[in-house]
Amino acid sequence: MLMSGTIRYLACMAFYKYHVFFCTNQREDGSACCQRFDALAMRDYAKQRSKELGLAGPGKVRINTAGCMDRCQEGPVLVVYPEATWYSYIDKEDIEEIIQEHLLNGRVVERLQIP
Ligand code: FES
Repeated sequence: MLMSGTIRYLACMAFYKYHVFFCTNQREDGSACCQRFDALAMRDYAKQRSKELGLAGPGKVRINTAGCMDRCQEGPVLVVYPEATWYSYIDKEDIEEIIQEHLLNGRVVERLQIP
């Protein structure tokens, strides 16, 4: 039996407790982009920390790269599913806070959240 697109999407998303997407898009024309703020390094840091903390893997956390998510002026941005909580950040300390609060304890980091 075939699943509808929505059900298939939800089933897929449930494979991870939290699925985190970092925009790492870089624009060569100098316009706003997340990679201007070292987004790839921040993604790498999140991946490393999720592994160190035993968070990585099915049923737990997945850190992924995304292209532009059309929030360039608010960047750098990342989004945490399934809640679709959007964050902007500055440095590794901000990423660490998102990991410790949101991914480990399920608490939104309001100071970094963007609507
Ligand atoms: S470049 Fe990151 S949202 Fe557009």
